[in-house]
Amino acid sequence: MNQTFSFSLLATDGKARRGEISMPRGTIRTPAFMPVGTGGTVKAMYMDQVRGVGSDIILGNTYHLMLRPGAERVARLGGLHEFARWPYPILTDSGGFQVMSLSKLRKLNEQGVTFRSHIDGAAYEMSPERSIEIQGLLDSDIQMQLDECTALPAKDKEIERAMELSLRWAERCKTAFGEQPGKAMFGIVQGGDDALLREKSARALATMDLKGYAVGGLAVGEPQAVMLEMLEITCPELPAQKPRYLMGVGTPDDILKSVARGIDMFDCVMPTRAGRHGLAYTRRGKVNLRNARHADDHRPLDEESDCPAARDYSRAYLHHLVRSQEALGAMLLTWNNLSYYQSLMGQIRDAISAGAFEERTAEITEGWVKGDL
Ligand code: GUN
Repeated sequence: MNQTFSFSLLATDGKARRGEISMPRGTIRTPAFMPVGTGGTVKAMYMDQVRGVGSDIILGNTYHLMLRPGAERVARLGGLHEFARWPYPILTDSGGFQVMSLSKLRKLNEQGVTFRSHIDGAAYEMSPERSIEIQGLLDSDIQMQLDECTALPAKDKEIERAMELSLRWAERCKTAFGEQPGKAMFGIVQGGDDALLREKSARALATMDLKGYAVGGLAVGEPQAVMLEMLEITCPELPAQKPRYLMGVGTPDDILKSVARGIDMFDCVMPTRAGRHGLAYTRRGKVNLRNARHADDHRPLDEESDCPAARDYSRAYLHHLVRSQEALGAMLLTWNNLSYYQSLMGQIRDAISAGAFEERTAEITEGWVKGDL
């Protein structure tokens, strides 16, 4: 296994890229989907299932883990990989985004953010330096800069102020992170829905020579067309030889369209959250298992799937579990959904290598509208 963090591009097809990130804890095949493991668990999944469906890396959250059980405690217990029994790469978000969406009484200034926990009201401070320190205590492999994400719609001045602040915080995070050859710290492009601000942010981060770049501040209330336009402006400004991560995105359709614009990595709560709410992703589109029409349906979700949750259980049984609020319903549907997402990523990677990304995208998208098998 590689002792240093490195990214190689293996194939391109139009703007779509297939690649590989190598690092001491493993190899990440890109385009990659990272299941969200906010508080040290991918909800309703065993880690061997997360791995079994084809995940190379999972995401953890600085914000949640610093509040509970505490970053210093996780470090004493051997780090997040040991604590959660996931020995492969982990990317952690920096906390800024979650502070803004979840915490109470937050105040932000040049120095950082102060806030009160959404769990018990305790007061916390987080600076760019403290965010990197926490991510180090967690022993995260890919660490994110602290940034300020603006919810859209927002005033131009507000978007610009947050973008400029995020650039200054990127410098501070880079210094705090220092030299760690086996790990990486990614910068985050901000700039809302403003093309010039996005360009400025991406160019400034590119000159910092970071190991990877994320695009943040998207899928925050804007139409998909705006998100895609921002990617078309941002991606060409980022160095081709570094991985690009679109934060918090998205639906299978968002993923296909973002890969087509040059994105390599994704994370989203969609497959896991939807699974806990009775919704299954399949080759033929989304299936709402709460619906009464499944009550007598003996067919599985997808008899051709490799995933037991999709192949071996009837829709009638899944419907029953969901309606009865059984834990197993959430477990099976989450398993199905992550399996679907990871098989989609595998198909995307294969299609790029074969130079058939556009054709394969059309076939995959047609499958969704055909409806039930
Ligand atoms: N997750 C989704 N969007 C964002 C963002 O803009 N910044 C951070 N830090 N995390 C995110």
